Amino acid sequence: MNNIKIAPSLLACDFLHLEDEVKSAVNAGADIFHADVMDGVYVPNISFGFDIIKSIVSVSDIPVDAHLMIKKPQNYIDTLKSAGVYSVTVHSDFDTPDVVRSTLEMIKAAGLKAGLSLRPCFSADELFPYADICDVFLIMTVEPGFGGQKFMSDMVPKIRRAREIADAADHEISVQVDGGIGDSTIGLCAEAGADNFVIGTAFFKALDRKAALDSFRMAAMA
Ligand code: DX5
Ligand code: ZN
Repeated sequence: MNNIKIAPSLLACDFLHLEDEVKSAVNAGADIFHADVMDGVYVPNISFGFDIIKSIVSVSDIPVDAHLMIKKPQNYIDTLKSAGVYSVTVHSDFDTPDVVRSTLEMIKAAGLKAGLSLRPCFSADELFPYADICDVFLIMTVEPGFGGQKFMSDMVPKIRRAREIADAADHEISVQVDGGIGDSTIGLCAEAGADNFVIGTAFFKALDRKAALDSFRMAAMA
């Protein structure tokens, strides 16, 4: 696959030096920033909010993607639009299917790319009813909530099925993976059809971030 995107997850960066961390990732060759928003309700952790995202956008030369792990994502689409994000991803189970769909419609109506994410317990077929409106399918390869967890290799068949559903759509859908992605797991995900790789710990904790990013990209393209 040629159109590989590497998306550093800022959850793993040094927040004391956020601007430097953003610039370091851009200089290392990152394609997209992944910004995890957690509310302590949908997931058992709290990360950062929309003012921080706005600050990230203001110093970033690359698009910023918001991954919303919150109970009421529909309340914040306008705020995210004003903050300048490029895309917004919500989870399939934050509310009923009707509310999930109307939220994806709000994201599209705001002129943003729309993503739908699945927790590990859900099958890829949950994506199918929303394929007409999604630009991104995000397959979680850990339980959402924390960085630094171990990749769940039993998610690989789901990545493959998500790719099939994406390919059957009449528009381009990116298949993104998030959680435990690094040198030893990125190739498996790419082979199964992922093209967009969220990488937190393995990127920000690398001694040489540019070398790490080049090696992720090589492994994804192999
Ligand atoms: C977890 C977040 C991830 C997290 C990934 O809920 O969605 O984006 O930052 O971190 P790593 O790459 O360390 O697993
Ligand atoms: Zn994430």
